Amino acid sequence: MGRGRGLRMYGDLAGWWPLISAPEDYAEEAGIFLGVLREALGRPPRTILELGSGGGNNASHMKRRARMTLVDRSPGMLRVSRRLNPGCEHVPGDMRRLRIGRTFDAVFAHDAAGYLRTDAAVRALARTAAAHLGPGGAALLVPDWTRESFRAEASLGGHDRAGRSLRYLAWTRDPDPGDSGYETAYAILLGSARGRVRTVAETHRLGLFPRSLWLRALREAGFLARAVPFRHSTFPPDSRREMFLGLKRPARWRVKRHGAGISIRDAAPADLPAMARIYDEQVLHGTATFDTEPKSRAAWRKWFGEHPRGRYPIIVAEEDGRVAGWARLQPWSGRCAYARSAENSVYVRKDARGRGVGTELLSDLLRRARAAGIAVVLARVAEGNPASLRLHEAAGFRPVGVMRRVGEKFGRILDVSLLQIHLDGGGG
Ligand SMILES: CC(C)(COP(=O)(O)OP(=O)(O)OC[C@H]1O[C@@H](n2cnc3c(N)ncnc32)[C@H](O)[C@@H]1OP(=O)(O)O)[C@@H](O)C(=O)NCCC(=O)NCCS
Ligand SMILES: C[S@@+](CC[C@H](N)C(=O)[O-])C[C@H]1O[C@@H](n2cnc3c(N)ncnc32)[C@H](O)[C@@H]1O
Repeated sequence: MGRGRGLRMYGDLAGWWPLISAPEDYAEEAGIFLGVLREALGRPPRTILELGSGGGNNASHMKRRARMTLVDRSPGMLRVSRRLNPGCEHVPGDMRRLRIGRTFDAVFAHDAAGYLRTDAAVRALARTAAAHLGPGGAALLVPDWTRESFRAEASLGGHDRAGRSLRYLAWTRDPDPGDSGYETAYAILLGSARGRVRTVAETHRLGLFPRSLWLRALREAGFLARAVPFRHSTFPPDSRREMFLGLKRPARWRVKRHGAGISIRDAAPADLPAMARIYDEQVLHGTATFDTEPKSRAAWRKWFGEHPRGRYPIIVAEEDGRVAGWARLQPWSGRCAYARSAENSVYVRKDARGRGVGTELLSDLLRRARAAGIAVVLARVAEGNPASLRLHEAAGFRPVGVMRRVGEKFGRILDVSLLQIHLDGGGG
């Protein structure tokens, strides 16, 4: 037992679901999920597609605020949910492949997302979400655990209902921390209305992925993505649980106020004067670079000519025929054993900042880095640069340390934060 599709809990035992997990247990989190969606959309969602809706416990609360369409691949669970939520549309389907052919204000996948066991399945879920949202729509993916937040635990539960009783022990653990899965073993006692008790044991095998995979899967599917801390009254204070929120890129984020869109392409020698102007603004007035003197045109040409290509691209964002920003990868170190790692830089023209150019550049750079087989990208961010920190964190970089007082510019001693992203799914 343990293959997702063969689980008795969602198969012949589906009718016992309300005694395993009762709708009232979901009131607080349903409110939290609706709150996150409301904030992301700037208004309450009117229509929500829930993927892996199970017995419909979440939906029993969310349906009071939004029209819910509920999808599950288990016919037994859909039956349970139909009884609880007779007014909701129910659709049999798999969250990796479903295509209903219409869009919703929001797409939501809760604990069912944990049953996805491969990177490809997580990406497929993000694509399903994108396929059911218009521009500006929100996707909220809430797997129980990520590699970073995981905790082994054991819990007791169960309910009495209509003469029947159920009690269970659920034991969640990660027997092989080296793989991308964990398991929850259930020992279940089923008490019939006639007082007979039988025992069922089964192990659910679930996926355990780094948070960066959830964020990346959303970004690759066309979302602006970020992690939102998940705070619930039953979680311990040091819980690191998170939800993954994607906002489907509206056309206007790619398009400047007056028309032409942003395009990202390889830099050419003709871009160097514009790139130099953008960079020199930071040389002279900012701390994004620790260069303190503008370079000559000849020095820029030399730098461009000598930059190692292929693995380490230099790209520009072009808007209305002008360079709005540029970015590049460079080797993190000349020493061969560091070859799996690279460092990035991103610079956006001052009057083009704050409307997604940096995000476009960085996501394109990371896509190219991944394609080139680079495993880790690092960024150094001097203190006092919240835009750069946010840019990198939103792309999935995590801070790994602060180098104290390593720089001095404009008479100020500066700390430098080091951030990194794992593109190979490693890193924990
Ligand atoms: C850092 C920089 C590249 C960001 O580019 P940008 O085009 O302005 O960034 P975006 O519009 O794509 O925004 C990226 C994120 O930063 C946030 N952000 C933008 N400006 C911000 C600011 N001044 N303060 C806080 N957050 C900011 C955005 O809200 C967005 O976060 P979100 O995805 O959660 O909404 C740009 O500000 C810049 O060129 N600064 C000078 C050079 C520099 O610092 N380079 C980085 C060197 S490490
Ligand atoms: C823990 S239950 C969900 C309970 C739900 N949160 C509720 O409110 O009742 C997990 C559900 O995920 C469903 N599921 C697992 N993988 C799925 C997939 N790939 N597509 C659709 N449903 C899936 C199972 O059939 C099961 O009903």
